[in-house]
Amino acid sequence: MAGYPRKMSWWCLVAVFFSTLMTLDARNRTEISLFNNTWTNFTLGSGDTLDVTLSNISVNSSFAMLHVHAIHTSVVGSLAPDYHTYTSVNSSDVGLLTLLEKGQSSVTWFVNSTRNETDGTKVWMMALEYNASDPIPGACNQEFPLENDPNIHVHYNLYETIVQFQFSNVGFPRQPKGIPECDQGSSGDHRLKYDVYQYYLPEHDFSEASLVQGLKRMTHPADIIANGHLIRTLDSKKKPNMTLASFKGQGVIYNVIVRDPKLNTSASYIPVHTYACSFTDTVAGCFANNDVAKALSTIAGVIGLFLCFTGHRYFKTELFIFGFLATMLITFILISMYSDESHAVCVGISCMVGAVGGILWTLFWWRFGLAVLSVLLVGLVLGYMFASIIFFTPFGNLNVWLNDFNYGMSFACGIMIIPVFLLAFTKTLSIVSCSVIGSYAVILALDAYLYTCLSYIALNPIKRAVAQDFRVAVISAPFQVKDYVLVALWVLLSILGAVSQFYRERGREDFPPCPYELYRKKRQESLPQPNIQQPDQQDREETEPLLSNQEAPTYVINHVT
Ligand SMILES: *[C@@H]1O[C@H](CO)[C@@H](O)[C@H](O)[C@H]1NC(C)=O
Ligand SMILES: *[C@@H]1O[C@H](CO)[C@@H](O)[C@H](O)[C@H]1NC(C)=O
Ligand SMILES: *[C@@H]1O[C@H](CO)[C@@H](O)[C@H](O)[C@H]1NC(C)=O
Ligand SMILES: *[C@@H]1O[C@H](CO)[C@@H](O)[C@H](O)[C@H]1NC(C)=O
Ligand SMILES: *[C@@H]1O[C@H](CO)[C@@H](O)[C@H](O)[C@H]1NC(C)=O
Ligand SMILES: *[C@@H]1O[C@H](CO)[C@@H](O)[C@H](O)[C@H]1NC(C)=O
Ligand SMILES: *[C@@H]1O[C@H](CO)[C@@H](O)[C@H](O)[C@H]1NC(C)=O
Ligand SMILES: *[C@@H]1O[C@H](CO)[C@@H](O)[C@H](O)[C@H]1NC(C)=O
Ligand SMILES: *[C@@H]1O[C@H](CO)[C@@H](O)[C@H](O)[C@H]1NC(C)=O
Ligand SMILES: *[C@@H]1O[C@H](CO)[C@@H](O)[C@H](O)[C@H]1NC(C)=O
Ligand SMILES: *[C@@H]1O[C@H](CO)[C@@H](O)[C@H](O)[C@H]1NC(C)=O
Repeated sequence: MAGYPRKMSWWCLVAVFFSTLMTLDARNRTEISLFNNTWTNFTLGSGDTLDVTLSNISVNSSFAMLHVHAIHTSVVGSLAPDYHTYTSVNSSDVGLLTLLEKGQSSVTWFVNSTRNETDGTKVWMMALEYNASDPIPGACNQEFPLENDPNIHVHYNLYETIVQFQFSNVGFPRQPKGIPECDQGSSGDHRLKYDVYQYYLPEHDFSEASLVQGLKRMTHPADIIANGHLIRTLDSKKKPNMTLASFKGQGVIYNVIVRDPKLNTSASYIPVHTYACSFTDTVAGCFANNDVAKALSTIAGVIGLFLCFTGHRYFKTELFIFGFLATMLITFILISMYSDESHAVCVGISCMVGAVGGILWTLFWWRFGLAVLSVLLVGLVLGYMFASIIFFTPFGNLNVWLNDFNYGMSFACGIMIIPVFLLAFTKTLSIVSCSVIGSYAVILALDAYLYTCLSYIALNPIKRAVAQDFRVAVISAPFQVKDYVLVALWVLLSILGAVSQFYRERGREDFPPCPYELYRKKRQESLPQPNIQQPDQQDREETEPLLSNQEAPTYVINHVT
């Protein structure tokens, strides 16, 4: 009989063990209570699940939405505790919408983390109630698993960011619950309007604080209108898609306000953020090592500085650089269009071809000495810069440019316009090209360290040529203080460079004489000429300084190649 109590104590131990396990499990299931329009933050540990409850819902509210924003990662939000595919969303910005039932005064949503990081997943949450007159965001969903999907879906690549959402329905009261038909297709009156807004975070700022501040500014319709930048207004006759140019590493928040003009009400979707880069990818992600790019940009900047202040004096170097740029650009576009090589390979090949092009262009000048023809290419590069700047402005977002022919023709005209006007003043064209392009290279070198959007001025036309879909991308540049400072510096450097070159070139020949002619003359002179007198001293002095002026650039050319 002594065994019986011992058995009892065993069972007690087992019971205690299981109840401890149960409490451990309960501790990981956290309950959070929210009221209308209050922000909360929480750190989800590995295996944690959150039950988020919005309580004290007004009897007049007809639907409620939960916003969940994860910092630098994604979370799963669900309408039901089983996290079924048709009730859950996996994203870094999760929105859940619940239509309220009669008498319902609280809603519970479920959140858990997709990753099992040791340091946890930080989430920011808030919930909002809307009343019966407000339109219901995403209630006419036809594409995504959730029945009512107020989420904005974002996909990005190197070229463009696609923002996709679902159409809304007009609001209706909890009781009687007559769900109106979706206002789509040919029958509807298309009365709901969708305003797509964009908000840029500070450049190259990945911090949680600025992200949360930005999300708070892009949550309520009134704040969105005050802080965001309206990109486009759509209605249900259009596709609920927007394509925008990507700016890698630049934080951006999108949101959509749906307006009901008849009732004068509005509601906003769930703000969504992206940096157009991955936080986990170590090769091409947000924090990827870009020392090589920095080094190359620095070299380009030094060459640019040289070009900006002394480009015309060292005419052969100038021709080499511009021949290099033009050939490289064309080669890069052609290779990217017709092959699937990686960008590094394309850049490498086009640099090599560019160097050959530069040498050939210099040789062309060396042999024929045609200043006007040689400078034409230089002017075309300046024209490319000019056309790129024009198409970088809102002018580049006009609908006519969706057509490749219109765009191509206008861009070509933009390229040509500068050479056409300035080719008559060949020396001026040469000096202005040197100073503008040279100072842009200096700006690009600074850009590699400061992370601005100015490199996209010259890149966007290339993207347009290479990526078919980039045609529809809206280019809305994140111009901020740093960009304005750099643009001012660019203008200043261009003017300084041009003025100093004009000053130093005054009174000199516009262009050096044809090197081949000089070479031939020199060879003839050095041939034994028994009968003829030595050429008189003055002649020699006129040629020799010019020749020695040309020695330096030859050295630089070799150095550059
Ligand atoms: C919930 O908060 C929003 C935003 O402040 C407000 O517009 C709305 O009237 C509130 N709803 C209720 C029922 O308090
Ligand atoms: C997160 O919320 C707590 C209160 O729940 C608050 O004390 C804390 O300041 C919040 N964290 C941040 C970064 O605001
Ligand atoms: C609950 O959290 C503890 C640490 O706090 C962890 O060891 C345990 O694995 C978690 N339980 C589950 C079911 O994830
Ligand atoms: C609940 O809502 C009522 C009015 O709708 C308000 O007076 C009350 O303060 C709310 N309670 C809490 C805890 O917010
Ligand atoms: C609900 O709406 C009715 C009329 O629309 C109004 O009289 C009542 O005060 C509202 N109740 C609350 C809690 O806002
Ligand atoms: C979220 O929690 C549910 C139930 O607690 C679980 O079945 C599911 O696997 C969890 N999902 C993830 C991604 O951890
Ligand atoms: C959620 O998405 C992330 C990446 O987008 C993925 O790694 C993760 O496995 C997904 N989780 C679930 C539960 O589908
Ligand atoms: C958590 O991560 C480890 C490796 O990092 C992996 O072996 C394990 O399966 C993960 N656990 C879950 C629940 O995903
Ligand atoms: C809905 O809200 C607006 C303003 O927030 C208010 O004017 C209107 O009366 C509300 N409608 C109902 C049915 O409560
Ligand atoms: C909208 O986006 C989807 C997927 O991102 C794509 O399949 C569809 O063609 C796009 N529609 C338009 C009009 O761009
Ligand atoms: C619509 O509402 C806004 C404020 O929400 C108000 O300023 C505007 O005058 C209203 N317009 C009409 C036509 O009622």
